[in-house]
Amino acid sequence: MVEAARPGERTLTLPETTDDGIYFIGRLRTPWHDRSECPRNANGSDAVCTVEIDARFADGLTGVEAASHLILLYWMHAARRDLAVQVPRHHGRPRGTFSVRSPARPNPIALSVVRLVGRDGLNLKVVGLDCLDGTALLDIKPYLPSIESRPEAIVAPGV
Ligand SMILES: C[S@@+](CC[C@H](N)C(=O)[O-])C[C@H]1O[C@@H](n2cnc3c(N)ncnc32)[C@H](O)[C@@H]1O
Repeated sequence: MVEAARPGERTLTLPETTDDGIYFIGRLRTPWHDRSECPRNANGSDAVCTVEIDARFADGLTGVEAASHLILLYWMHAARRDLAVQVPRHHGRPRGTFSVRSPARPNPIALSVVRLVGRDGLNLKVVGLDCLDGTALLDIKPYLPSIESRPEAIVAPGV
């Protein structure tokens, strides 16, 4: 169910048509069936979750075990898509959609870096997810610390 906008939030008018199509490549199996049960972020739980890959994409998993960590991109189907300014519950102040990690965004794409703990055929066992059971998977990429790691990165408080 899509939540009503909170006080201080502003909506935008979405385009009448989408620009391109996507393929769901699998489903994420997690212990959470309601958004209130999900960890707020991906480092909030040690639960081992399962990435179920659709058989037609099986070949794409070749060599995936070489990476200790993977970047998963997934589709937050239960989020609203028309918020330009939102008031995150934990933050309390209005923030632009592109300045927060909320699932509510024009394209409700989420990203988590997960630890790969095992593989059984088309199923990958991972730690580090925060989404509802059944959430659709868009892509998998190896996490490359030499490229992605930014130890100097900050988010200024109070902005
Ligand atoms: C703050 S978002 C972060 C998502 C991702 N780790 C990121 O940073 O892009 C995580 C929250 O999204 C919500 N959520 C999880 N699965 C969802 C889904 N399928 N549709 C909409 N909201 C979802 C839950 O409230 C969860 O705590």
